[in-house]
Amino acid sequence: MMNGMKLRFPEGIDTETFLRDYWQKRPLLMRGALTEYDFPLEPEELAGLACEEEIESRLVIGHDRYRWELHHGPFDESRFSELPESRWTLLVQDVDKYLPEVARLLEPFRFIPSWRFDDVMISYAVPGGSVGPHIDTYDVFLVQGMGRRRWQIQPHPTRDALIPDLPVRILSEFEPEQEWVVEPGDVLYLPPGVAHWGIAEEACMSWSVGLRAPSHQEMLDSFTNFLLERMPEAEHYRDPPLPPAKQPARIPADVVPHTFNELDRWLQDERLRQRWFGSFVTEVKAHLAIEPPAEPLSKGEILHHLRQGGLLKRHPFSHFAWMETGAGECLLFACGDIYETSGLSPDLLETLCSADAIDEEALTPCIDDDSFLNTLTELVNLGYLELAHE
Ligand code: SIN
Ligand code: CO
Repeated sequence: MMNGMKLRFPEGIDTETFLRDYWQKRPLLMRGALTEYDFPLEPEELAGLACEEEIESRLVIGHDRYRWELHHGPFDESRFSELPESRWTLLVQDVDKYLPEVARLLEPFRFIPSWRFDDVMISYAVPGGSVGPHIDTYDVFLVQGMGRRRWQIQPHPTRDALIPDLPVRILSEFEPEQEWVVEPGDVLYLPPGVAHWGIAEEACMSWSVGLRAPSHQEMLDSFTNFLLERMPEAEHYRDPPLPPAKQPARIPADVVPHTFNELDRWLQDERLRQRWFGSFVTEVKAHLAIEPPAEPLSKGEILHHLRQGGLLKRHPFSHFAWMETGAGECLLFACGDIYETSGLSPDLLETLCSADAIDEEALTPCIDDDSFLNTLTELVNLGYLELAHE
């Protein structure tokens, strides 16, 4: 029933106009945009997840505009019965990685490439609960589950100064320009940089579909490390034509562009850039380690499994993506690893990277191709693909 669930845009807006006029530009409140989704998690179950060792969770208590407490999970079950009746929020990260029915909430947003998604974070707030006025650096779809929440936003905050010495990022100035009370099924889209403050009117749950926007610093760090691992050590600086030095202590300014001409050969290598990009955006978050299967499987065993009607499913922590490089090849990226594929059609790569389950039929054109079977076997033995029966 939930298959093919779509976002119901407001009158006069469709996917194209949303992407053109709102995406990364302007907030949009979409009333009743996701009333089809049945929000398959109760507050008690969310609290249960926050007690798990490997799941990232936070408890934010807001005493007033200037006094905030932040506690990190995992929490003891008894912690929740000790809390006051109002003004706290429990937030649990990456819930989509643990519950497939929560991962389904990503479906209506699939018109955005999947590598851009970070996670579904779910919050439960008691009346008056909030995480305070703040700015996020990424786009977010705030989907209202249970209860009502009052959202106030300031689309173009003039200052981003924070109240000092607080454990949570709270803006010291916030002048809301728009305000809405959202109800179950309403979706508020916010691009990065919009100041927002959502206060629970009553006990409520908000499901945040958060996008991922790595910082330039993070990307340059990753890209240069990727290059360093691939550049030959043996290449060293070489002088341009050298006139006799009159002032030996002086660095001639033209050695700088000369040096960068040499380095640019690496920085501008399109082949390496493409490989880095796909690898970087499919890396799995450090705390979500994927365990390989206890016993490695052989090609024959995998083939047999598929021929018997078995399925392959991507590990819920994994990220898969593919790219047509323009140089007549397609690359497959899985959890930061790069596979050079030959003879795999874009359709097959798309299935491998995004179908709920992969069966023999989907793989038919290539199932007897030895190099493809090698790749498939490696993906299974790394734990990125799992054998499943339904
Ligand atoms: C919340 O769910 O309480 C916070 C979401 C946000 O402001 O980004
Ligand atoms: Co936010």
